[in-house]
Amino acid sequence: MARLSVNIDHVATIRQTRRAKAPDPVHAALQAELAGAHGIAVHLRGDRRHVQDRDVEILRKVSQSRLNLAMAAVQEMVRIALTVKPDQVTIVPERRDEITIEGGLDVILNSVQLKPIIRTLIGGGINVGFFIEPDLEQIKEAHRIGALSVEINTGSYVDANSARSKEETLNKIKDAARLGRKLGLSVHAGHGLDYLNVGRIASLTEIEELNIGHSIIARAVLVGMERAVREMLAEMHQCR
Ligand code: PXP
Repeated sequence: MARLSVNIDHVATIRQTRRAKAPDPVHAALQAELAGAHGIAVHLRGDRRHVQDRDVEILRKVSQSRLNLAMAAVQEMVRIALTVKPDQVTIVPERRDEITIEGGLDVILNSVQLKPIIRTLIGGGINVGFFIEPDLEQIKEAHRIGALSVEINTGSYVDANSARSKEETLNKIKDAARLGRKLGLSVHAGHGLDYLNVGRIASLTEIEELNIGHSIIARAVLVGMERAVREMLAEMHQCR
């Protein structure tokens, strides 16, 4: 079964609506780990709309699983990553006015800017990857410029609204994952996955890790974090 990395950004979103202390995403992370999550993911945005620097720093100290920091390819975030030393950095595109990430990074277009950033982060002992579309050319370029992993955006599969486009997008993800593995990359996937749509993605043996946030936090608000994580793990387990 793939590892489950739980993205806890939206626990911080609830906290930031009041600029209060609770709910603390650190508590949520520890509960997710107790329920069996293999990793914790946070996206530290330039505008700090949800996760704060202190969250990432404390998580690094107390989390007992893999810490994955999603961040834009900017010097401010590179400095933070080199200080905090997460296990994984996932470089994502970021636009200030977006509600959530809108698509994968264009590694081909931005390779000149991305290559030295990757090198610096890997030099700091961090596993670095890109969040990209299921596109073979993007996978090849990620590998060419030195990434150690890729996270394939599952958004197009999630949003596909006919059986045919579901199959097509699933096949693209499968081909991209296969190529990634063939090139020696760790292959992760995520975005928009929930309890109903996770099955076929979780069944792809090339994918080592799923990154799931909103659906787990949305359920956790109603049933508690531990149950929400256990139920997602059960869904993932059923499919392999
Ligand atoms: N992968 C990356 C790179 C992310 O930044 C996020 C959070 O936006 C996710 C996966 C999780 O997406 P979702 O919250 O839709 O499950």
